[in-house]
Order: sequence, then C-alpha cells, then structure tokens
Amino acid sequence: MSVKYTWIGHGTHALEIAGKKILVDPFFTNNPATNVSPDSVEADFILVSHGHSDHIADLVPIAKRTGAKVIANAEISGWLQRTQGLPAEQVHGQHIGGGYWHEFGYVKLTIAHHGSGLPDGSYGGNPAGFLITVEDRKIYLACDTGLFGDMKLYGDEGIDLFVLPIGDNFTMGPDDALKAVKLVRPKAAVPTHYNSWPVIEQDAEAWARRVEAETDTKVYVLPPGGSIVI
Ligand code: NI
Ligand code: MN
Repeated sequence: MSVKYTWIGHGTHALEIAGKKILVDPFFTNNPATNVSPDSVEADFILVSHGHSDHIADLVPIAKRTGAKVIANAEISGWLQRTQGLPAEQVHGQHIGGGYWHEFGYVKLTIAHHGSGLPDGSYGGNPAGFLITVEDRKIYLACDTGLFGDMKLYGDEGIDLFVLPIGDNFTMGPDDALKAVKLVRPKAAVPTHYNSWPVIEQDAEAWARRVEAETDTKVYVLPPGGSIVI
C-alpha cells in the first residue's frame, strides 16, 4: 500500500494512508514555513510528539473542529482531557516503546532526546517520535531529537522513509543527521525542522548531496507543502 507524505513546514507533517488523513504536530498559526490556515486542515488522526508550542499550537482547535483522534504520550493525553476539554474517547495515550494498531496502521512511539513542557507550564512527559507500519511500508518520523545510537535498532526494522530534523540548535544538525541516516539506513529521507527561523537556517541541498555521496539513501528536499508517495 502506498503512503503519501507531505511536509507542511517546520515540524508539521501530514500522511495519507488508505484514505485516512493523519496530521503530525499541528503548528500553523505563526508558523513562518506555511500559509496553510488551521481552519482548513482536515484530519482523521493527529499525532503529537511533544508539548512544545511549535508542535501543538493548533492542536486543540483542530481536534475539536475535526473530531480527529489524538495519539500522544500519556501525560499529554491526560492534559488534553483534564484541561483542554477533549473527551476521553477522542484521545489515545501511548508511551515510548509501545505500539498500537490504529485504523490506518501500527504506531509505535520511539525515543526522542528533547523536552516536552506544555505551553501552560504543565509536565508533558517525555518527547517521542513515531514508527508507523502500514502493511509493507515503514515510516520513521524522528520528530524533535538529538542523535542517539538506538536509532540503529529502529533501522533494523527496515525503514522506507525517514523524516528527520537537520536544523541544529534545538535538534540534530546536519552532521548528526547524516550519522542518523547511516544508523537508520532508510530507502528515502526527508530533512525537516530547518529554515523556519534564522537560528536553524541550513542548506538542505548540500546536506542531501553529502547523504547521497556517503549512503544508499535517496534524499528528497521538499519545499514546505511538498509531497512524496512511497
Ligand atoms: Ni520541540
Ligand atoms: Mn520543534
């Protein structure tokens, strides 16, 4: 089964799997990398990697308008129910290392080395990434993280598409992102979480050339809003 991946911009992504729309880390309002209005976004599921506002800014209004099921760590799941008015049946809590078969595929939360404080100062648990299995396709969204050696274990599962940050400062920069590709050994990679602000400006084309010179991975440098089908 094919999967359509769209980089909306910064750390916000969309997947289309068997007619289901999956939104990851909804950040539209004040996101310098996209003009998409949060009022027009469609979603059947919303995946939340961590509590930082550049990942959940528009989460609650989009969830309330669309009725999309929200998948997040247990702490963020609890916060959404206790303080943000989402009904329990709309929220699915998981945690790192744990996977669950949702309607569109199997979602496992992965390690991420980062923070996860929520905008109101609440504790947001540990940050995560997502390993999504859809029939014969595997997509690893590293989300906001530094490099870590256990990425190799996720790579052992056979990754078709690896979506990773290269911006530096808040996450892996280009050198560590190249090491990450070598650990994960995906068929394809998409760099994200760069150029949204001056502090994370990077030359993604130059990074792609390095990756393709040193590995067998094909890099797709997408513009914000750009898609690939794997
Ligand atoms: Ni973050
Ligand atoms: Mn971020």
